[in-house]
Parts: sequence; structure tokens; C-alpha cells
Amino acid sequence: MIKTEWYKNGVFYQIWPRSFKDGNGDGMGDLYGVISKLDYIKSLGVDGIWFSPLYPSPGVDCGYDISDYMDIDSAYGGMSAFRDLLDQAHSRGLKVIMDLVVNHTSDEHEWFQKSRRRIDPYTDYYIWRPGKKGGKLPNNWDSHFEGKAWQWDDVRGEYYLHLFAIKQPDLNMDNPLVRQEVVRILNFWLEMGVDGFREDVITFISKKEGLPSDRLMPATRGIRFYNNGPHIHEYLRQFRSEALDRFDCVTIGEAPLISPEKALDYIGGDQRDLDMMIQFQCMCANCFFIDYYPHPFSLRKLKKSFRTWQETLDGRGWNMLYLENHDHPRVVSRYGSERLRDKSAKALCCAYMFQKGTPFVYQGQELGMTNFKVTGLSDFEDVQTLNQFTWLPKGLRLKLLARASRDHARTPMQWDSGEHAGFSACEPWFHLNENYRRGINVESEESNPCSVLNFYRKAIALRKETGCVLSGVYREYKRRSRRHYIYAMESESESLLVVISFSKKTTRFTLPLAYQFRELTLRLSNYEKEPQGDVLRPYEARVYTVKQQSSR
Ligand code: GLC
Repeated sequence: MIKTEWYKNGVFYQIWPRSFKDGNGDGMGDLYGVISKLDYIKSLGVDGIWFSPLYPSPGVDCGYDISDYMDIDSAYGGMSAFRDLLDQAHSRGLKVIMDLVVNHTSDEHEWFQKSRRRIDPYTDYYIWRPGKKGGKLPNNWDSHFEGKAWQWDDVRGEYYLHLFAIKQPDLNMDNPLVRQEVVRILNFWLEMGVDGFREDVITFISKKEGLPSDRLMPATRGIRFYNNGPHIHEYLRQFRSEALDRFDCVTIGEAPLISPEKALDYIGGDQRDLDMMIQFQCMCANCFFIDYYPHPFSLRKLKKSFRTWQETLDGRGWNMLYLENHDHPRVVSRYGSERLRDKSAKALCCAYMFQKGTPFVYQGQELGMTNFKVTGLSDFEDVQTLNQFTWLPKGLRLKLLARASRDHARTPMQWDSGEHAGFSACEPWFHLNENYRRGINVESEESNPCSVLNFYRKAIALRKETGCVLSGVYREYKRRSRRHYIYAMESESESLLVVISFSKKTTRFTLPLAYQFRELTLRLSNYEKEPQGDVLRPYEARVYTVKQQSSR
């Protein structure tokens, strides 16, 4: 099958199904709801949808704990609603990408139930170990969500490995039968017409032989023995040759801790294992490692991550661009300003939308949705949040969680200012951000030509009509500035110049020399009043196009 690389011209919209739109009135989002909003999604100018998991699941990790890979959860409308969604999305020219979660399953998956009872062929589908002398755990690895990475199972009389929650046992990918299952899953959905996969923590699937204990990094001991593990490329190649290569589809691998150089091992060249990677560096401009370890927002850190990915991948691999997804708080609250929400949401849109790669927009990001006001620990629902910092005093713990919880991205989508924000006819499964009553909702933003929503539409349209965003070379100016982000996509015939202030105050800037004597056409701005020369208002963002490349 010839791969057309259609995704390179595309923009994706991510749906987190529980919180997008309730179509059957039970308080939880579902596919009927999504179908009713396909025209809205299309109206953004996007080309495809990535769905966070839709499969049957006990819901311990909101669907990332799968109990059946070949079905759709009845709470979302089951398989018939999914087929309908697929047809209706395709008839509007929207591609559909599924989430592939094969590092682990739910412990309620039939495979695990049989494996714990040593019923063949499932006996070695998971990573079982007897434990060490004196009742010690098989090794000292930590799980990302719940304490140590081993759980004792009375039924089998052994420990099993779980890198995430206790109810998410890791699959044994070294078992060829497990890899065959993955191939079957891929073919099943691709044959149905799905256009690709976002592959969950895919760089974790191959563990180092012997599962050695670790001495480093107390919080995530073991990660160096399973991240980019010994057989990862071999396994990904098998998935390609036995399934993915038969279809004109896309793959996007989630890769914690990956650097751009390392990413090229996966996404570089023609015979690549994956088409794009979800990196985390652009998510670490106000934290160390992950959101839970805070430091103040650093524009220079953000710019550096953008720059290194743009420069390292140019001509060698394809970028995946994002600033929000279901695993991080809202970007306006993280990197922008809630007080200057409208301006900073638009500035953040410009900060990534014109780079080379395929941009993803997360539901509600296009409205400038913010974090909700946390009042107590009972406001949280997410398994990762609830297991963080359990040893800290309550007040401090609450403060840290309120800043970092992924629950902020999971409040229901705000459709209008009426009851339940137009998300559902009844009480939603999770609390709403009360600011839906204050204009942050689709209905209000539709009617305001200057809303964040309409700004996203304009930005996506401009990206698409400006060829140099895809064909040009990324160039960053004033790199050392702590307040301004200035970058350009430059090609022979045309350039696009983006000037953004991240300051809450009015500041001054100078145009890069290469642009000082060119004719700049202002194509997009987040202020209604004309730009004032070298004065940048708080969070001001301007996007210019320039005919003819300036001489360097
Ligand atoms: C990925 C998902 C996240 C999930 C975890 C375990 O990081 O994005 O939501 O909790 O993997 O599956």
C-alpha cells in the first residue's frame, strides 16, 4: 500500500469521549453526542479526530484500562454507534484515529482472568513473577500511578507487573501470541475503515530481560529498563508489516522522556516504525519531568523545546504539535493567564499553530477553557491525581494537585450557558467549570467574531493557505528573550512571521533585522485595534506574511 502521508496537511481534534457531549441523557458523553457535533468539529477546519479510548472498560483510568479491544463500550453507544460515527465522519472528509493501548489491559480483560488461572494459551500473556525470598517484590520498580509496580495475585500465587494502576496489568509483549493479538486488533479496526492509531505509552512495551532492579530516580525506578526497551523496534516493525503497512493510515506514538534525536530512531526515514511522536518537552515549561513537580513558567524553556524539535526533525521526521491533551491541565492556566484569558489563549494558539508538523487541538482548547476551582480532595476523580503525594500534609497536597491534576482537562465541554452547559440533559458525571456561565461556551463564542473559538478557526485557515508553514524552514529570533517569542517559517517565495508577547504588561520589541525592510502583511492579530509599531500589548500576538524571502 502506498502511503500518501495525508496527515501532513492535516489538523486533528482530540475527543475525550466521556466529556464531549452526552447524546442519550445519562450524564456521560457518548458517540451519539459526537455525531450531533460533527458539523461543529468540521467547522473548525480540522481534518480528523483522535478518540481517547472508546472500548469496553471498567473505567479505572477512564478507558485506558481496556477489557475488550474488539468492541465499543455500550455506554458510548456500542459498535453500531461507532460504525455510524465512522460513516458520518468520513462523509464530511474527517479521518478517525483510535487510541491503541497495548502496554497493559484491564485486570478484568478475559486474557488476564485466564492468565491468573494459568489457562493456556493465556498463561504467559502478562508479566508474572514469584517474588524473592522473604516475601520481597520481584524488583524495586515504581508504578506511575499506584505505589510499587508489583501486585500479588492470590489466584495465581504470583506477582504481576503494573507500570500504571493496580488494575492495569502489563502485557508480556515478548510472547509472540500477545504480538499476534495486537496485529489482530490493528487489522480489525483498519479493515473497518479507521484511519490510524495514537499508540499509548508505546515506548514502554519491551522490558529488559531479567527485569533488573534500579538504583536511580526514586520516583520512577525502573523506567530506564523499559523505556525504549531492547525489542521495541522489532515489535513495532512487526505491527507495521503485518497490519499497518496494508493501509494508508497514520501512527502517532506517545513517548514519555523522548528527545528529538531519539525520536528519529522511530520516525526518521522511509522505513520508519511510527509517523509521529507525542513528546513531553513542550509540556514541561512550568514543571520538572511531569506536571506534579512545579516550577514557574519559563518561556525560554518552552521556546527551546519548540526549537530543538523543529530543527532536529526538519527534513528527517515529522512533528506532532500540541499544547493540550487529556493528561495535562488547561494551557491557558499553565502557560497563559486566567485574568487575560482571551488574549493569552489566542497567543498560545499562535505559539504552536504555525510550526511545521501536524497540530492537534484538544476539546475545549478552542474555547480557551481554563482549570476549574478546586475546593477539596473530593473534587478529583483521576486515579493518577488521587495517588500523588499521599504522604504530604493535606493543605500542601491539595495545593500541588490543584495546580497539576489532569482532571482540569476532563470537565465537560461547555456548549452553552444553559443548564449543565448544554453538555447533558441531566447532572454530568463530572463537575462543570462554572465559568461556562460567563461566556466561555460554544454558543456565546459562535456569536462573537472576536472569540477564542473564531480565532482558532482563522488560525487554522491561515495555516492551511500559507504554503511555507509546511514547506519552509523554522527560524527563531530573539531566542534569549524571556517575554517574546518570535519565529518564522521561511521559504523561497514566502515567509510567515509570528510575533508573540508572553508578558502581562506592555513591552517593546524590535523586528528581526531580516524583516525590517520587508513589506509585512498582518494576517492575524488578537487585538482589534491596529498594532502600535514596536509596542506589544499584554499577550499580543501578530501573524504576518511576507512575499519573497528576505535576504539573510
Ligand atoms: C497514557 C495516557 C494516559 C493514561 C496512561 C496509562 O499516558 O495518555 O491518559 O493514563 O497512558 O494508560
